[in-house]
Amino acid sequence: MKTLNTQVAIIGSGPSGLLLGQLLAQHGIDNIVIERSSVEHVLSRIRAGILEQGFVDLLHQAGCAKRLTEQGIEHHGIYVSVDGQKHHLNLKLLTQGKVVTCYGQTEVTQDLIAARNASAQRSFYSAPVTEIHNPERGQAHVEFEHQGQAYRIQCDFIAGCDGFHGVSRPSIPNDIRREFERVYPFGWLGLLSDTPPVSEELIYCKHPRGFALASQRSLTRSRYYLQVSNQDRVEDWSDERFWQELKRRLPEQDAAKLQTGPSIEKSIAPLRSFVCEPMQYRQLFLVGDAAHIVPPTGAKGLNLAASDVAALYQVLSAYYDGEPREVLDQYSPLCLRRVWNAERFSWWMTSMLHHFDQQESCSFLDRMSDSELNFYLENQAGKQLIAEQYVGLPYDQITLCNSLHAEKTIK
Ligand code: APR
Ligand code: PHB
Repeated sequence: MKTLNTQVAIIGSGPSGLLLGQLLAQHGIDNIVIERSSVEHVLSRIRAGILEQGFVDLLHQAGCAKRLTEQGIEHHGIYVSVDGQKHHLNLKLLTQGKVVTCYGQTEVTQDLIAARNASAQRSFYSAPVTEIHNPERGQAHVEFEHQGQAYRIQCDFIAGCDGFHGVSRPSIPNDIRREFERVYPFGWLGLLSDTPPVSEELIYCKHPRGFALASQRSLTRSRYYLQVSNQDRVEDWSDERFWQELKRRLPEQDAAKLQTGPSIEKSIAPLRSFVCEPMQYRQLFLVGDAAHIVPPTGAKGLNLAASDVAALYQVLSAYYDGEPREVLDQYSPLCLRRVWNAERFSWWMTSMLHHFDQQESCSFLDRMSDSELNFYLENQAGKQLIAEQYVGLPYDQITLCNSLHAEKTIK
């Protein structure tokens, strides 16, 4: 077994692990990223595409925002269509200037990997972590295998950035860990195509046949979603069937403009709400999807991961700058406040925009959700409430104990 030493062992090379690694490295904190899959696999995953300003600021801080600045598209509003009738939410006006940026998670990951490759920090791909040793006192370590060689990394801390199916969360003992979960009775079928987006701004469509979303990755690449039953398989959905169904759910004037083409990627994602408490146990910190999942309706998954990274970076840099160890205890409560807020918003948006029972078209709950959506869309204060949560709330700051540090703002 080969032994390596570092300050922070980061499990997972998704956006959480890579962004954390970059911020820590810039602060002079050594870290190693260990990723189960190959780089090619990590870069082939198609995920979210809407970045809150807080995330954009973090990418600037990490020195990874060059391509984002050139290619990201600022979105000043969104549409919500109810049975074909469109409502516009001018995010910028409703939130006194805040906007979101359209830039794919795959691109973010690519930029972060390029930055990491250009730095002196070590990474291991195709290297699944099999063992986490997280004692009450003393040094933590993780074990993994890479190209037939067993490794042990001795470290001060472990960042569990290994997604929903990773090994970090289950390593927290059952009597400490509490999990909260809701699985929805439907999924989203996503299709990516090299066709111009049907609309400059995203359209969230509530329709008797089910929810649909018109999103995009660039001026020439579209991303569309359809609500489908949990029993559906991708093979059930030819491109042709997808486009036909999308046209039925889009507002008429948009359906008429829809440009179709072959899919580059098509997949079904189940919808889930999930939270693990606490997000820290001894030297282990859970970050991003390892700790929580939101349904995608509020575009919060990736942004929530970024706000965990911001919080973990704050406490770790404060600790290495000389703050007492207790500063680390702020991580879990600070994150969970924001996590539950995003869970509530994502669950609320999902409930208002979907028909829960696609067989039964007029259940009582469906009527309630129709009424609630109309109530919020038909007055300014209601639209403002949706807009403020959609663009994202500002990040909370940690409290420093050491008066020497309390003077300075953490960068
Ligand atoms: N050892 C090493 N790596 C692992 C292990 C393991 N045992 N288990 C999982 N991983 C890796 C996965 O292969 C994956 O690349 O951890 C990574 C986790 O990345 P993501 O799932 O992308 O999670 P995260 O970085 O938290 O990203 C936040 O926001 O929009 C949402 O779900 C979307 O991925 C997105 C997330
Ligand atoms: C996407 O473009 O993938 C996307 C956009 C907004 C959402 C969910 C997904 O709410």
